[in-house]
Amino acid sequence: MKLDPVSLVAAGLLLLMALGIVALFSGLSPEQRMVATMATPDASGSLGSARSLPASASSGLVASVQPVVDPVRGASPATAFAVPGLSPSSTEMPASQADTLKPFMNPKARLAEGHWKGLEALPLSVELKKKLRLPMELEGLLVDEVTLNAAAAGLLAGDVILAVNSQRIRTLEELKSATLRIQLAKSATITVYRAGKVQNFLLVAKNSLGQAQVETAPMILPGEIMPHPYRGPCTQCHAIGTTGHIVPDPDGIVLPPPAIRAGTPAPHKDRGPCQACHQIIQ
Ligand code: HEC
Ligand code: HEC
Repeated sequence: MKLDPVSLVAAGLLLLMALGIVALFSGLSPEQRMVATMATPDASGSLGSARSLPASASSGLVASVQPVVDPVRGASPATAFAVPGLSPSSTEMPASQADTLKPFMNPKARLAEGHWKGLEALPLSVELKKKLRLPMELEGLLVDEVTLNAAAAGLLAGDVILAVNSQRIRTLEELKSATLRIQLAKSATITVYRAGKVQNFLLVAKNSLGQAQVETAPMILPGEIMPHPYRGPCTQCHAIGTTGHIVPDPDGIVLPPPAIRAGTPAPHKDRGPCQACHQIIQ
């Protein structure tokens, strides 16, 4: 094997650096070495490793770790807000504020969604007209989902509701009041815009049509990232708080993987080292 002078010099430098690091570490006490090698930016991760360390080493490690702060609810009140020189009682927050922020509810929040006999309808915003290439002068409610009676009536997602029983509908408020009037009826004519034409459909109910139900945009967490284009101040449409729903999508509820016995074969594809996700029982 032939080595050129440049790579020989580089290899020499690397060796010197490695020796330097070893020399540095041998000058540290065992505790200091633990902290130097194990302190990571992830507090929960290094706390997990601390559990298996001897008491003296782990106390050194824990002292260097920041308290775990829940990004939504903030740090646990008693420790996080303790100010030296103040009596503990004056720094403690009332239980109601400490645990959850009071939701910011806007009584004038705009309606975002209506439901009636298996149809879901949204206000036809300029944003939606652009995205769906609908005429800008069109005013009505966009049907974005059909099931049950609405599907049986022949309505399709993408239809724009213009009228119910000849009563003009432009907003969810108008849908609410129009359906209030006919809530005991067993059928109603729905006029929709579809592919450039205006068409009528007969919505039929077995007992009664009932009144449309409406809701606003979902309550969002303070500081939540906007998944849609800018539409104005968040509070025009959303309540802000931590109590709105358990997760953005119930299908996304994740349970921690179960503990497994050492040597059990994985029933799933390779996801990485078993101990990364499972507690291993010997
Ligand atoms: C004009 C009304 C409006 C405004 C203003 C608005 N949003 Fe929304 N937002 C909605 C609607 C309606 C939805 C439901 C899905 C959709 O239409 O994109 C939504 C969905 C969301 C979601 C997903 C919520 C979930 O659980 O599915 C988040 C997060 C969100 N918005 C954040 C924001 C933030 C942050 C702001 C302010 C910077 C903001 N929104 C301003 C109407 C609005
Ligand atoms: C990235 C995370 C991850 C890794 C790595 C991983 N698993 Fe899993 N495992 C899961 C999850 C999540 C489940 C729950 C069911 C599912 O999602 O398939 C699971 C389920 C299992 C189960 C079924 C347990 C029960 O009681 O239902 C076994 C056994 C298992 N894993 C073994 C292993 C083995 C062995 C390895 C290493 C070779 C491994 N897993 C690596 C996440 C992981």
